[in-house]
Amino acid sequence: MAVEYNEADDEWETYIGLLYYKVIESIDDYKNLKTIVELAPGFRYKIAYALQKINFDGNLYIVDNNEKVLEYIKQKYTQLLPNAKIFTICESFENCSSYLPDNIDLLLSNHCVDDMIMNEYLKTNNENKNLEYKELFTKCWYALNLNKELTNKIIDKIYDNFKTFFDSKKTKYVVMAQYQSNKYFKDVINEYKISWQLFNKIKKLTTTDDNELNEVLKYHPFGDDERYLGDYLLVNTQNAKNWICGKIK
Ligand SMILES: C[S@@+](CC[C@H](N)C(=O)[O-])C[C@H]1O[C@@H](n2cnc3c(N)ncnc32)[C@H](O)[C@@H]1O
Repeated sequence: MAVEYNEADDEWETYIGLLYYKVIESIDDYKNLKTIVELAPGFRYKIAYALQKINFDGNLYIVDNNEKVLEYIKQKYTQLLPNAKIFTICESFENCSSYLPDNIDLLLSNHCVDDMIMNEYLKTNNENKNLEYKELFTKCWYALNLNKELTNKIIDKIYDNFKTFFDSKKTKYVVMAQYQSNKYFKDVINEYKISWQLFNKIKKLTTTDDNELNEVLKYHPFGDDERYLGDYLLVNTQNAKNWICGKIK
């Protein structure tokens, strides 16, 4: 998929990265996480910030199907995680298994579900190939919002890819988040609701305990900075509904 480079907001990367840190730290044996896979980072590095906080020094496999993303990630993550070994895999999620070890301690992914749905929609709608990302985004979510059958088909396909992945690799833990994005006209195009439908199906493959997770998420990375204490933000980013943290069932 044509992913455009746009500069990250470092404060936002830090905020979400510190939430990941807290969630990962809630795993009993987090110090023994030595083989980690990150799926679909895009031009972002929230998860590298989280791994930096736990002094991660194991093997990190990063899967994204965009070459430019991986060039950026290799450089950025090598700088942020000097003690980790970083392997980049330019493949789609459904085809990445053969490049990964058989035992994975943790699968991490931030906000990948909406992009995976878009990616899948694009595959079945070739005529959209030359559109700019913004146009594509709107077109995709409008189309899916109007076509429940196609939406369910795409959701089932991606869900099956996750299930196959967990069955074929011995994956111990999964940590993911899918909060509501501020981009575009979310209420009209239902992007969040559709993404959350898939996210919640994936969550059910894990032992995630929302009550425990909500306790962990009562952490305020920027202390009493009021910009990060508003309800609108907290019910979105610091809400177990939008997080997965658990073992594979
Ligand atoms: C915008 S990023 C996701 C958000 C980002 N992780 C963050 O923290 O803000 C989306 C990435 O997903 C990748 N992607 C989408 N579908 C994929 C798939 N099926 N397999 C691998 N990578 C995929 C795209 O190439 C893109 O780099």
